[in-house]
Amino acid sequence: MKITSIDSICCIGAGYVGGPTMAVIADRCPEIVVTVVDSNEARIAAWNDPDLSHLPVYEPGLDDVVARARGRNLYFSTDVGNSIASADMVFISVNTPTKTKGLGAGQASDLRWVEACARQVANFAKGHTVVVEKSTLPVRTAAAIKAILEASQQKPLCDEPSPTFSVLSNPEFLAEGTAIRDLEDPDRVLIGGEESEAVDALAQIYAHWVPSGRILRTNLWSSELSKLTANAFLAQRISSINSVAALCEATGADVREVALAIGTDTRIGSKFLNAGPGFGGSCFQKDILNLVYLCRHFGLPEVAGYWEEVVNLNTWQQHRIASLVVQRLFGTVSGKRIAILGFSFKADTNDTREAPAIRISLDLIEEGAQLAIHDPKVERDQMARDLNQNERADITPSPEAVLKGEGTWCFASTVQGAVQGADAVLILTEWNEYRLLDWKELAAKMRAPAWVFDTRSVVDSVKVAESGLNLWRVGEGED
Ligand code: NAD
Ligand code: UGA
Repeated sequence: MKITSIDSICCIGAGYVGGPTMAVIADRCPEIVVTVVDSNEARIAAWNDPDLSHLPVYEPGLDDVVARARGRNLYFSTDVGNSIASADMVFISVNTPTKTKGLGAGQASDLRWVEACARQVANFAKGHTVVVEKSTLPVRTAAAIKAILEASQQKPLCDEPSPTFSVLSNPEFLAEGTAIRDLEDPDRVLIGGEESEAVDALAQIYAHWVPSGRILRTNLWSSELSKLTANAFLAQRISSINSVAALCEATGADVREVALAIGTDTRIGSKFLNAGPGFGGSCFQKDILNLVYLCRHFGLPEVAGYWEEVVNLNTWQQHRIASLVVQRLFGTVSGKRIAILGFSFKADTNDTREAPAIRISLDLIEEGAQLAIHDPKVERDQMARDLNQNERADITPSPEAVLKGEGTWCFASTVQGAVQGADAVLILTEWNEYRLLDWKELAAKMRAPAWVFDTRSVVDSVKVAESGLNLWRVGEGED
């Protein structure tokens, strides 16, 4: 099949990946019509909202990119069928969460949305279509997609020639909060595929702005597996440094100094060595569990066990933070007000998927704490969904409530409001504004003896000490 040029792209899935990725492609390739489709009408309406502050994804710089391309060659629509029919290339960028039931529940990826996409493409595509896996997928998923597409080619059609397909893997490596920078200046773009014309067609799109040396070509399976293992390696570094943080706390070492000493070895490198409350986000845990499942499936239980420990350590770290808060507050947080600063899984995003704040908050609520939760970007409804309980408007506990040990939470629109009357502040996300807090002012609002628990190494320890507050920092041992 001769692929001439790609004039029209359809991307199925207008989420954190599909929206920003296609916005950048449209911005950099004005001659290509890019349509992002989604079955979620509200999400598409938000992408089309004239007020760019209402885009469904918060990413620094995204609004400018969308402003330049939307309505020119970038469109958002719910019309999946027509968009596929008019596309030369279809990206599949839908969710691939961990299965919650059935075979592989708790580990394997749930591929029902990907399969639905393959069937939609099979139904609506015309002529030759390059189908690109953008979602993160188990290795060998392309074989299933090919099988579905090939089955549609065998269907007798009335007058039109059967559609034909090429399947490529082009995983996305962007990180939330830096998505636009990562897309505009990627370390590499990875394209896996067997058909060189199709690989070239996709490479030519990226070549509009990515130097050719950074466009890597591999076979399909290497590309699929590279995405899972890249995330596993990144997450492994975080679990490694968090394990070291616990040892630092026990021995009097300081994890920031240890990380600096380790990271200045150029063979190791300094990135991803920040100890914290454990990794969150929609992908690290899901992708490692998927890797673990695949290893077991392919008869490699030792390899599975090795990677599984990365997730186990992460879960342990989150519970550990909640327990040490309880321990420092005289062994009980029943009825005590704790200000939680930061609910998103990292700074500069409104995404709370698998955020450490969820597990840590739930542990503290279970212990009877009254949480006042502040985040610059996460809305109160999202917190309620994540905690699976409604907030209580007034969390000032009555003496009876303290004795009953009923924990609860409320939304705080300001840091000052959150800390009013609090016994502790627990910083869980590294939002820049938390680096600039006036601890003297905040200390005056708290109930002494009060604590600051800094899981992100954002506070100035001298200023906290000067304010009379007790300070615990992740990975900081006592002399
Ligand atoms: P998301 O949940 O934000 O978006 C997926 C969208 O797909 C949803 O809006 C959903 O309505 C839509 N959808 C699902 N099935 C559909 C169908 N058949 N037709 C039309 N629309 C459909 O997910 P995301 O965070 O964008 O992640 C997508 C994929 O990219 C996942 O595989 C993820 O692992 C991978 N990934 C995510 C990130 C990230 O930072 N979030 C980074 C790299 C890779
Ligand atoms: C991660 C990868 O970095 C991306 O390359 C990948 O494309 C993406 O997953 C994906 O597949 O979804 P993301 O989860 O958006 O990106 O954000 P990261 O910057 O990787 O942070 C993940 C979590 O690790 C956050 O909770 C962050 O706070 C934590 N983290 C990160 C640390 O605790 N310490 C660090 O040193 C770095």
